[in-house]
Amino acid sequence: MNGARFFEWLQSADFYRALHGEAVAMVPATGGRWLDVGCGPGLVTRLAAARGFEALGVDPSAAMVEAADTRRDELAGKRLLSTATGAHPAARFEQASLDDLVASGATAHVVSAASLVLVLPKPRAGLEALWRLVEPNGHLLVIETMPALTFTSAVRHAQHFGDLGLVLWGLARSGRSVAPLLDAFRPPDLASSAHQPLCAGLVGAWSFTRRPSQELHP
Ligand SMILES: C[S@@+](CC[C@H](N)C(=O)[O-])C[C@H]1O[C@@H](n2cnc3c(N)ncnc32)[C@H](O)[C@@H]1O
Repeated sequence: MNGARFFEWLQSADFYRALHGEAVAMVPATGGRWLDVGCGPGLVTRLAAARGFEALGVDPSAAMVEAADTRRDELAGKRLLSTATGAHPAARFEQASLDDLVASGATAHVVSAASLVLVLPKPRAGLEALWRLVEPNGHLLVIETMPALTFTSAVRHAQHFGDLGLVLWGLARSGRSVAPLLDAFRPPDLASSAHQPLCAGLVGAWSFTRRPSQELHP
Protein backbone atom coordinates (compact mmCIF):
# COMPACT_ATOMS: atom_id res chain seq x y z
CA MET A 1 0.00 0.00 0.00
CA ASN A 2 1.52 3.38 -0.93
CA GLY A 3 1.42 6.45 1.36
CA ALA A 4 -1.62 8.03 -0.25
CA ARG A 5 -3.59 4.75 -0.13
CA PHE A 6 -2.60 4.22 3.50
CA PHE A 7 -3.75 7.70 4.55
CA GLU A 8 -6.98 7.35 2.53
CA TRP A 9 -7.68 4.19 4.52
CA LEU A 10 -6.71 5.80 7.84
CA GLN A 11 -8.77 8.94 7.16
CA SER A 12 -11.86 6.82 6.52
CA ALA A 13 -11.61 5.15 9.97
CA ASP A 14 -14.31 6.25 12.42
CA PHE A 15 -11.92 7.07 15.29
CA TYR A 16 -9.74 9.19 12.97
CA ARG A 17 -12.64 11.14 11.47
CA ALA A 18 -14.16 11.70 14.93
CA LEU A 19 -11.01 13.09 16.54
CA HIS A 20 -10.25 15.38 13.60
CA GLY A 21 -13.88 16.56 13.62
CA GLU A 22 -13.56 17.44 17.30
CA ALA A 23 -10.33 19.31 16.62
CA VAL A 24 -11.83 21.32 13.72
CA ALA A 25 -14.78 22.24 15.97
CA MET A 26 -12.34 24.04 18.31
CA VAL A 27 -12.11 26.84 15.73
CA PRO A 28 -15.04 29.31 15.73
CA ALA A 29 -17.06 28.89 12.52
CA THR A 30 -16.47 32.43 11.27
CA GLY A 31 -15.85 31.50 7.64
CA GLY A 32 -12.89 32.93 5.73
CA ARG A 33 -9.83 31.22 4.29
CA TRP A 34 -8.61 27.96 5.87
CA LEU A 35 -5.27 26.55 4.77
CA ASP A 36 -4.65 22.89 5.65
CA VAL A 37 -0.91 22.24 5.34
CA GLY A 38 0.21 18.66 4.72
CA CYS A 39 -3.41 17.74 4.01
CA GLY A 40 -2.76 14.20 2.77
CA PRO A 41 -6.02 12.90 1.27
CA GLY A 42 -7.84 15.95 2.60
CA LEU A 43 -9.89 14.97 5.67
CA VAL A 44 -9.31 18.17 7.68
CA THR A 45 -9.73 20.32 4.55
CA ARG A 46 -13.14 18.75 3.87
CA LEU A 47 -14.18 19.13 7.53
CA ALA A 48 -13.22 22.83 7.35
CA ALA A 49 -15.22 23.31 4.13
CA ALA A 50 -18.20 21.61 5.75
CA ARG A 51 -17.90 24.18 8.56
CA GLY A 52 -18.28 26.99 6.04
CA PHE A 53 -14.65 27.93 5.40
CA GLU A 54 -13.04 28.47 1.97
CA ALA A 55 -10.77 25.52 2.50
CA LEU A 56 -7.59 24.86 0.58
CA GLY A 57 -5.50 21.77 1.32
CA VAL A 58 -1.89 21.68 0.21
CA ASP A 59 0.56 18.83 0.13
CA PRO A 60 3.90 18.42 -1.68
CA SER A 61 2.94 14.88 -2.72
CA ALA A 62 1.12 14.70 -6.07
CA ALA A 63 -0.36 11.33 -5.03
CA MET A 64 -1.87 12.87 -1.87
CA VAL A 65 -3.38 15.78 -3.83
CA GLU A 66 -4.84 13.38 -6.38
CA ALA A 67 -6.29 11.22 -3.59
CA ALA A 68 -7.81 14.32 -1.96
CA ASP A 69 -9.39 15.48 -5.24
CA THR A 70 -10.77 12.01 -5.91
CA ARG A 71 -12.23 11.60 -2.42
CA ARG A 72 -13.89 15.05 -2.55
CA ASP A 73 -15.47 14.21 -5.93
CA GLU A 74 -16.65 10.79 -4.71
CA LEU A 75 -18.29 12.37 -1.66
CA ALA A 76 -19.83 15.16 -3.74
CA GLY A 77 -21.19 12.50 -6.10
CA LYS A 78 -22.86 10.77 -3.19
CA ARG A 79 -24.17 14.17 -1.98
CA LEU A 80 -22.53 13.52 1.37
CA LEU A 81 -21.08 17.01 1.46
CA SER A 82 -24.32 18.98 1.28
CA THR A 83 -25.46 20.65 4.47
CA ALA A 84 -28.94 21.18 5.86
CA THR A 85 -28.77 24.85 4.88
CA GLY A 86 -27.54 24.26 1.33
CA ALA A 87 -24.32 23.76 -0.56
CA HIS A 88 -21.04 25.02 0.87
CA PRO A 89 -17.91 25.67 -1.17
CA ALA A 90 -16.06 22.47 -1.96
CA ALA A 91 -12.59 21.94 -0.58
CA ARG A 92 -9.78 22.66 -3.07
CA PHE A 93 -6.39 21.00 -3.18
CA GLU A 94 -3.01 22.10 -4.57
CA GLN A 95 0.48 20.67 -4.65
CA ALA A 96 2.77 22.79 -2.42
CA SER A 97 5.04 22.44 0.60
CA LEU A 98 5.14 24.56 3.74
CA ASP A 99 8.28 26.27 2.39
CA ASP A 100 6.44 27.07 -0.88
CA LEU A 101 3.62 28.71 1.10
CA VAL A 102 5.99 30.84 3.16
CA ALA A 103 7.93 31.85 0.03
CA SER A 104 4.72 32.87 -1.77
CA GLY A 105 3.52 35.00 1.17
CA ALA A 106 0.31 32.96 1.52
CA THR A 107 -1.87 33.73 4.55
CA ALA A 108 -5.20 32.48 5.88
CA HIS A 109 -7.58 33.13 8.75
CA VAL A 110 -7.09 29.52 9.87
CA VAL A 111 -4.02 27.38 9.26
CA SER A 112 -4.14 23.73 10.22
CA ALA A 113 -1.46 21.07 10.40
CA ALA A 114 -2.55 17.54 11.27
CA SER A 115 0.27 15.06 11.93
CA LEU A 116 2.67 17.34 10.07
CA VAL A 117 4.94 19.01 12.65
CA LEU A 118 6.55 15.76 13.86
CA VAL A 119 7.40 14.66 10.31
CA LEU A 120 9.11 17.94 9.41
CA PRO A 121 12.94 17.84 9.55
CA LYS A 122 12.97 20.84 11.93
CA PRO A 123 9.70 20.79 13.92
CA ARG A 124 10.31 24.08 15.78
CA ALA A 125 11.16 25.98 12.59
CA GLY A 126 8.16 24.33 10.92
CA LEU A 127 5.84 25.46 13.71
CA GLU A 128 7.15 29.02 13.43
CA ALA A 129 6.66 28.90 9.64
CA LEU A 130 3.04 27.75 10.11
CA TRP A 131 2.47 30.65 12.52
CA ARG A 132 3.73 33.13 9.89
CA LEU A 133 0.86 32.02 7.60
CA VAL A 134 -1.81 32.99 10.16
CA GLU A 135 -3.56 36.34 9.67
CA PRO A 136 -4.05 38.73 12.64
CA ASN A 137 -6.97 37.50 14.76
CA GLY A 138 -6.63 34.11 13.05
CA HIS A 139 -5.94 30.64 14.38
CA LEU A 140 -3.34 27.92 14.06
CA LEU A 141 -4.75 24.44 14.72
CA VAL A 142 -2.21 21.68 15.28
CA ILE A 143 -3.18 18.04 15.75
CA GLU A 144 -0.47 15.69 16.99
CA THR A 145 -0.11 12.48 18.93
CA MET A 146 0.74 12.62 22.64
CA PRO A 147 3.66 10.76 24.28
CA ALA A 148 0.97 8.37 25.61
CA LEU A 149 0.40 6.94 22.11
CA THR A 150 2.41 3.74 21.91
CA PHE A 151 1.67 0.32 20.48
CA THR A 152 0.64 -0.93 23.93
CA SER A 153 -1.67 1.97 24.76
CA ALA A 154 -3.19 1.81 21.28
CA VAL A 155 -3.92 -1.90 21.63
CA ARG A 156 -5.55 -1.18 24.99
CA HIS A 157 -7.80 1.47 23.45
CA ALA A 158 -8.35 -0.17 20.07
CA GLN A 159 -11.13 -2.33 21.41
CA HIS A 160 -13.01 0.79 22.41
CA PHE A 161 -12.26 2.75 19.25
CA GLY A 162 -12.46 -0.42 17.21
CA ASP A 163 -9.79 0.32 14.70
CA LEU A 164 -6.55 -1.21 13.54
CA GLY A 165 -5.46 2.23 12.32
CA LEU A 166 -4.95 3.38 15.92
CA VAL A 167 -2.70 0.39 16.63
CA LEU A 168 -0.61 1.08 13.53
CA TRP A 169 -0.40 4.75 14.49
CA GLY A 170 0.77 3.74 17.97
CA LEU A 171 3.35 1.41 16.46
CA ALA A 172 4.63 4.15 14.16
CA ARG A 173 4.81 6.84 16.83
CA SER A 174 5.91 4.69 19.80
CA GLY A 175 5.70 7.66 22.17
CA ARG A 176 7.51 10.09 19.85
CA SER A 177 5.66 13.38 20.18
CA VAL A 178 6.04 17.12 19.67
CA ALA A 179 3.56 17.82 22.50
CA PRO A 180 6.27 19.51 24.67
CA LEU A 181 7.16 21.83 21.78
CA LEU A 182 3.48 22.72 21.28
CA ASP A 183 2.85 23.20 25.01
CA ALA A 184 5.76 25.66 25.16
CA PHE A 185 4.87 27.58 21.94
CA ARG A 186 4.38 31.21 22.98
CA PRO A 187 5.08 33.56 20.04
CA PRO A 188 5.11 37.28 20.99
CA ASP A 189 1.90 38.00 19.02
CA LEU A 190 -0.05 35.15 20.64
CA ALA A 191 -3.43 36.24 22.03
CA SER A 192 -4.50 32.91 23.53
CA SER A 193 -4.04 29.19 23.24
CA ALA A 194 -6.06 26.10 24.10
CA HIS A 195 -5.34 22.41 24.26
CA GLN A 196 -7.89 19.65 23.88
CA PRO A 197 -7.17 15.97 24.54
CA LEU A 198 -8.64 13.69 21.88
CA CYS A 199 -9.05 9.93 21.57
CA ALA A 200 -8.74 9.30 25.34
CA GLY A 201 -5.68 11.55 25.58
CA LEU A 202 -3.61 9.63 23.01
CA VAL A 203 -3.88 12.56 20.59
CA GLY A 204 -4.14 16.29 21.22
CA ALA A 205 -5.25 19.43 19.42
CA TRP A 206 -3.69 22.82 20.10
CA SER A 207 -5.36 26.02 18.97
CA PHE A 208 -3.26 29.21 18.93
CA THR A 209 -4.98 32.55 18.28
CA ARG A 210 -3.02 35.48 16.92
CA ARG A 211 -3.48 39.03 18.22
CA PRO A 212 -5.28 41.60 16.06
CA SER A 213 -2.79 43.60 13.99
CA GLN A 214 -3.43 46.91 15.85
CA GLU A 215 -2.09 45.26 19.00
CA LEU A 216 1.11 44.45 17.13
CA HIS A 217 1.71 48.01 15.96
CA PRO A 218 0.02 50.35 18.49
C1 LIG B 1 1.54 12.00 8.46
S1 LIG B 1 0.84 12.64 6.98
C2 LIG B 1 -0.64 13.44 7.61
C3 LIG B 1 -1.68 13.63 6.55
C4 LIG B 1 -2.97 14.29 7.05
N1 LIG B 1 -2.74 15.65 7.47
C5 LIG B 1 -3.57 13.51 8.19
O1 LIG B 1 -3.56 13.99 9.32
O2 LIG B 1 -4.11 12.42 7.94
C6 LIG B 1 1.92 14.05 6.70
C7 LIG B 1 1.63 14.75 5.40
O3 LIG B 1 2.48 15.90 5.34
C8 LIG B 1 3.00 16.03 4.04
N2 LIG B 1 4.26 16.77 4.13
C9 LIG B 1 5.50 16.30 4.38
N3 LIG B 1 6.40 17.30 4.37
C10 LIG B 1 5.72 18.44 4.12
C11 LIG B 1 6.09 19.81 3.98
N4 LIG B 1 7.36 20.20 4.08
N5 LIG B 1 5.12 20.71 3.73
C12 LIG B 1 3.81 20.33 3.64
N6 LIG B 1 3.41 19.04 3.77
C13 LIG B 1 4.34 18.11 4.00
C14 LIG B 1 3.13 14.60 3.53
O4 LIG B 1 3.16 14.54 2.12
C15 LIG B 1 1.91 13.93 4.14
O5 LIG B 1 0.80 14.00 3.28
